[in-house]
Amino acid sequence: MDAEHRTMPEPTQTKDGATGVVTPSAMYAQMVAAGTVQHDTAQAEAMQALDKVYLRVSDPEFEQEDGIISKLLSSVLRPELPEFCGTYLWGDVGRGKSMLMDIFYEMVPIKAKRRVHFHAFMREVHARIHAWRQLKSQHDLLPRVVDELAREAKLLCFDEFQVHDVTDAMILSRLFTLLFQKGVVVVTTSNRAPKDLYQGGLQREQFEQFIELAEAHLDIVRIDGPLDYRLQQLKAFEQVYYPSVGEEACEFLYDAYCALTQSAESRPTVVEVQGRNVVLEKTASGVAWVSFAELCERPLGAGDYLEIAALFHTLIMQDIPILSPEKRNEAKRFVTLIDTLYEHKVKLICSAQAPAEALYPAGDGSFEFQRTVSRLMEMQSERYLSLPHISE
Ligand SMILES: Nc1ncnc2c1ncn2[C@@H]1O[C@H](COP(=O)(O)OP(=O)(O)OP(=O)(O)O)[C@@H](O)[C@H]1O
Ligand SMILES: [Mg+2]
Repeated sequence: MDAEHRTMPEPTQTKDGATGVVTPSAMYAQMVAAGTVQHDTAQAEAMQALDKVYLRVSDPEFEQEDGIISKLLSSVLRPELPEFCGTYLWGDVGRGKSMLMDIFYEMVPIKAKRRVHFHAFMREVHARIHAWRQLKSQHDLLPRVVDELAREAKLLCFDEFQVHDVTDAMILSRLFTLLFQKGVVVVTTSNRAPKDLYQGGLQREQFEQFIELAEAHLDIVRIDGPLDYRLQQLKAFEQVYYPSVGEEACEFLYDAYCALTQSAESRPTVVEVQGRNVVLEKTASGVAWVSFAELCERPLGAGDYLEIAALFHTLIMQDIPILSPEKRNEAKRFVTLIDTLYEHKVKLICSAQAPAEALYPAGDGSFEFQRTVSRLMEMQSERYLSLPHISE
């Protein structure tokens, strides 16, 4: 997903006094002054850390650094890793990490930049390795993939950096070493410090090389403000399950969507599942707005729901109907969807024709549906709403 459009003040008003350059921290100060965001000391400090990245990537030489000579040299020599390769923002849920990264990203003046959900990026890396393997029987294909990635973007911004999968864990150290050697600069958001990633995972010792790499070459910045801004927004709505459908319900969902995305511009997200594309038309800032029909009246299954649950921290679902016995397939899909959202701690805001316990009163699997009802109840609790999203 690309960064969304956020209303920001004109850069000319936000020049940093000392350097004369418009920095992310100066922009943040301006947004606070304009009342667009609330002042938060931890965020202001994180923005100062992003200033360093900003100055590095907006240097006119940055995009040219991987020129012909350095390419020739790197084919014979093993290039040194630059000391500073980017910033790793981490902290609890709703502290504004993605928001800060988006503000920074929009300001960066270079073309070769990319913002991507980390889960989607790793999927893509594996797919590219696979594609190269179809062409050649060569074993070490990661450098080829990194060449492609580095040609396409010299600044990579990753949202929701998490590691759960052993195949990811095993290649991360090499992948990032190669990216850094190519001069790629990285900014990430995560709920965990690098040393706490992949806790208890298979072959964790091998993953530790990645932790060392990150700690040595990235500025690790904790954002530990006292406020979970997302929870505040959700609490302001008093409910996340709106037990009726129609115009009022739609308005309620619309207000929730605007608040959670800070009215960022919506765009479609193409979710790739086993070579198929599922398009979600209305998405922004990690939030997807869908209808019940879109997700449960089409032949989608667990794999599709899993990808959606990985990519979005919040799903807004409109018009969940009362399901009659003939709608057993729709009911079954809804059960699978809710199970998947629940397992990934995706927040659900929805409108439904009836309270959860009255949605599927009779029909195949209506007894098992009770578990879904219980999950729907739990997903409305403050405890659930403040849990971190799990994106694998
Ligand atoms: N200082 C602030 N003033 C007003 N709104 C804010 C502020 N900081 C964050 N928000 C809003 O709070 C919500 C949560 O912020 P964001 O999504 O950036 O959190 P996060 O740290 O990335 O959370 P997670 O760990 O779940 O990914 C967003 O809608 C964001 O725009
Ligand atoms: Mg985030």
